[in-house]
Amino acid sequence: MESVASIIDGKKISDEIRDEIRQRVEGLQSKTGVTPGLAVVLVGENEASQIYVRNKGKACENVGIQSFQHTLPEDTPQEVLAHLVAQLNQDPNVHGILVQLPLPKALASFDVVAAITPEKDVDGFHPVNVGNLVTGREGFRSCTPFGIMKMLEYIKFELKGKDAVIIGRSNIVGKPMGMMLLEKNATVTYCHSKTHDLAKKIKAADLVVAAVGVPELVKGEWIKEGAVVIDVGMNRDTAGKLVGDVEFGAASSRAAYITPVPGGVGPMTITMLLYNTVRSAYRFAGQPF
Ligand code: GUN
Repeated sequence: MESVASIIDGKKISDEIRDEIRQRVEGLQSKTGVTPGLAVVLVGENEASQIYVRNKGKACENVGIQSFQHTLPEDTPQEVLAHLVAQLNQDPNVHGILVQLPLPKALASFDVVAAITPEKDVDGFHPVNVGNLVTGREGFRSCTPFGIMKMLEYIKFELKGKDAVIIGRSNIVGKPMGMMLLEKNATVTYCHSKTHDLAKKIKAADLVVAAVGVPELVKGEWIKEGAVVIDVGMNRDTAGKLVGDVEFGAASSRAAYITPVPGGVGPMTITMLLYNTVRSAYRFAGQPF
């Protein structure tokens, strides 16, 4: 008989963590009068970014975090954006700063991110926070891989000695994901567009994290029986349906656990952003988190 994978319900796990976050927000307010604040900066009119930013604002409100939204035109000069970031760095009501990526081509994203004070870099993109991750020190962790670690913890997946294959090497997901898995003693293989025989690598994996942005690139038949499959993809197929980077149906008949798209990794990313913001507020208020 064919087995069917258990679904890792990102919405449910998210809701549980958001309940904890709400309590932490109330706890900080009652003890110190401080309300955690997140500044979100959107430059230009990228439609997906507008949706993400709106969702982040709503999610903040929902747990009692103050949200400060700054929307700037597409042709904003680098200096204007740098000036705004400098102001937010100084603002005592702002504990987290997020500059939505991608920025318009004319802007130097690295310089903008590097201008955020690492203490407010709740995205975990600043080189100091990236360095802290790589060297195993405390710091803000990139929200998507951080959320995936929480999901793996939730299903009690023991990473020690496991073979983990990551498909995708972005600075936001793939690269930090590998570091976090390594920190938990997994054996990590990074795959990408130049990888030879992707199928062979995936067939040997106890854990597959797909973060490439290619609809259903990972075939169900490549999944090892009993593997855990995490799908970060959010793609439209030719019919306009939202699909992940993994062939969900076929992979489900082999995997032990799998994340759906939507309702898997997506909700976790915003939840970890809220978590990082509240943690930052506690730190600024001198309170143990
Ligand atoms: N663009 C896509 N994902 C992210 C994210 O997690 N943070 C920011 N700032 N921009 C993004």
